[in-house]
Parts: sequence; structure tokens; C-alpha cells
Amino acid sequence: MKPLEGQTALVTGASSGIGAQIAIAMGAAGAQVGVNYPFDQGPADQVVSAITRAGGAAIALQADVSREDQVIQMFQTLIGMYGTVDILVSNAGIQKDAAFAEMTLAQWNAVLGVNLTGGFLCAREAVKEFLRRGVVPERSRAAGKIIFTSSVHEIIPWAGHANYATSKGGIMLLMKTIAQELAPQKIRVNSIGPGAIKTAINESVWSDPQGAASMCKLIPYGRIGETTDVAPVAVWLASDASDYVTGTTIFVDGGMLLYPGFRTGG
Ligand code: BGC
Repeated sequence: MKPLEGQTALVTGASSGIGAQIAIAMGAAGAQVGVNYPFDQGPADQVVSAITRAGGAAIALQADVSREDQVIQMFQTLIGMYGTVDILVSNAGIQKDAAFAEMTLAQWNAVLGVNLTGGFLCAREAVKEFLRRGVVPERSRAAGKIIFTSSVHEIIPWAGHANYATSKGGIMLLMKTIAQELAPQKIRVNSIGPGAIKTAINESVWSDPQGAASMCKLIPYGRIGETTDVAPVAVWLASDASDYVTGTTIFVDGGMLLYPGFRTGG
């Protein structure tokens, strides 16, 4: 039996990057998958096809996660289709980088809106449904599982990215606070903290040989990560194999958090 058989997972920001790979992995693990995308349906349809070609079930769901009305509508559509939702992967995230003195309020609000408010809105709707339904022992020992895609930047300050680092620091305490609040109701809440993973968000860095080399200096394990390094961790966190794990971040970063500068300095 597949670990997520009979469960429904919603993955936000699932039309590209880490979210797309997580959606595909959730489908392969037996879940029905809501593949959320922000604006352009084409890439989400490709993820849906990848899941269905492999024998799974999925639907594409449009919503800008920073918009309350759109998030509520997305959950209604998903629950209408599959009956409930068991797993939320709150993954949608953006960067709008600027030196601090030049950062506009629009850049600040856009990043906080998607990365942090989006996480709040999606988690709240998921939790309402988890509480309504309660535990269904045949499917899972938990009433629901939430996994945030955070970042090493929930810990590591990041010059030129104050909005992004702030959003990830916020996700860390959102995750821990709701994990604490909802554990008695058998809701598990955790984060994955990716390091430098090859996706569109950081393509301008890794696609340039010099950029890739300077990135690698920050990674003791000596390679830039792939989305396939991250996805199995999300499946594990969603499954009963991690039933006693809540309120924590699992970093998938090739050792980026190990202060690589101290290998030779200090
Ligand atoms: C960012 C990437 C960056 C990585 C490591 C991620 O959270 O989105 O742009 O390469 O952290 O710094």
C-alpha cells in the first residue's frame, strides 16, 4: 500500500520548481493532488498530466494565495472534488530582491503577501477542514498534516533580501505556533527548509558559472540541490512514518547551515 493512499493533498505553487516536484511525488505516493498555480494554467496542466500518466489523480486549481477570497474558493473546489483535504503543502513563494534602502513597499508587500499571508490563509482553511473531519484511522493517524516550504533563510540573514528572509522567519514561528496549538487535535505542522535548489527562483545565479561556483562555496556537500532532493521529505512528513514529528523544520540544504566559512576560518 502506498503511504498516502486515499488521502488528498493540496500543494500551492505547484506549477513549477519544488512545488511541482512535491505534487508529482505526492501523486506517486497515492494522494489525490490539488495542483495550485497563481496565474498561468499551462504549466499546472503539465504537472497534472505527469501525475495522471503515472496512474494518479490530480486537478489544477487557480488561486493567488495572498487573496483570501481565492484561497477559500480553491479549498471549496478541492473539497467538492475529493471530499476533504488531508495534507497541505504551503509552498508558494516569491522573491523580489532589493537593497534595503531601495526596497519599495510594493516589493515588501508582494513577498510578505504570498510567502507569509499566503501560508496563513491556506493553513487556516486546511485546519478548518481537519477540525471538521477529525481523524479517519483507515487513512492516517493524524487529522491533518501541514508542511510549509520555508528556507535556510528562516535562520540565515540574507542581505538584499530583507522581505524574503523576514517572510521565512515569520513562517518558522507560524509553523511552530500552530503546531503547538493544534497538536491536541492531532494536526501535525512542520516545515522543510531548502537550501540552494535549482529552480526558476534562483536561475539567474546557478545558470551563470561564476554564480554557481559562489553558490557552491556556501554548500559543504558541494553541489546545488535538485527538486528531487526535497520532494521525498515532503512525502515523509505527510505520511504516518513521521507521526511523532511536529513543530520542526527539516533542512534539505547540503549543509548550508553548517557555517561553511568556519571550515577554514575561526
Ligand atoms: C532562495 C534561493 C537561494 C536559497 C539559498 C532560497 O530560499 O529562494 O534563491 O538560492 O534560498 O540561499
